[in-house]
Amino acid sequence: MEVVILDSGEQLAALAADAVERLLADKPDAVLGLATGSSPLSLYNELVRRHQAGRVSFSRARAFMLDEYVGLAPDHPQRYRNVIEREIAARVDFGPGAVAGPDGNAVDLAAACRAYDQAIRDAGGVDLQILGVGADGHIAFNEPGSSLASRTRIKTLTRQTVADNARFFDGDQSAVPRHVVTQGLATIMEARHLVLTALGRPKAEAVHQMVEGAVSALWPASILQFHPHATVLLDRDAASRLQLASYYEHVYSGKPAWQGL
Ligand code: GLP
Repeated sequence: MEVVILDSGEQLAALAADAVERLLADKPDAVLGLATGSSPLSLYNELVRRHQAGRVSFSRARAFMLDEYVGLAPDHPQRYRNVIEREIAARVDFGPGAVAGPDGNAVDLAAACRAYDQAIRDAGGVDLQILGVGADGHIAFNEPGSSLASRTRIKTLTRQTVADNARFFDGDQSAVPRHVVTQGLATIMEARHLVLTALGRPKAEAVHQMVEGAVSALWPASILQFHPHATVLLDRDAASRLQLASYYEHVYSGKPAWQGL
């Protein structure tokens, strides 16, 4: 696991954007994994800027979203499919149908989840998966207690995640769906490169557990320790509880620039 600690979210976003730009230059038909939440927003804005500057094209790329609420109306602004459309998909040049998300309104949710995992496999798997982490250590919507071998499936949100996400629903916790469909931890682990961004002090404990704690379903993000190519991008507040922070900074400061993430 590579841990990069920098001063600002913009610096971290530029690094992540470099990785996406380099991937699409080498492999224009790459498969990206897209996350919702506030953590990747600066990255999406940076990718839009680079797209407008003619540096990066998504025209042959495909993308799979991580997760979705169950039961939100198709036109609900907080439906993750609509969020991803607003934040990135509609602002760059993805082809029609190139961005897919799990179906939170399927009549048979279990079958739709299985089909989603299969669609990712059929596309050749995800090359670069963008991730955030919840304050309780969830990635996508894999809440504490999630099987480390889980596939795309339905989950129930913790009270903490409902409270955290109420900010997107005018602060109204009762408007936040209780159920979600999410790529499983094993599904996410099959992506070839994981790039997780965490910002701010509320993430510090989850980041410490993810990077330095025991691998445990109690902190689902800790499964990243088993991934051969996981990059964790942190601002100083999110890194504030790391035991080995100065070592990670020492390693990164000596890294050759050509190496990339
Ligand atoms: C949400 C999403 C996750 C996201 C996390 C953190 O519930 N399902 O994919 O990483 O919570 O969100 P944020 O980046 O807004 O802190």
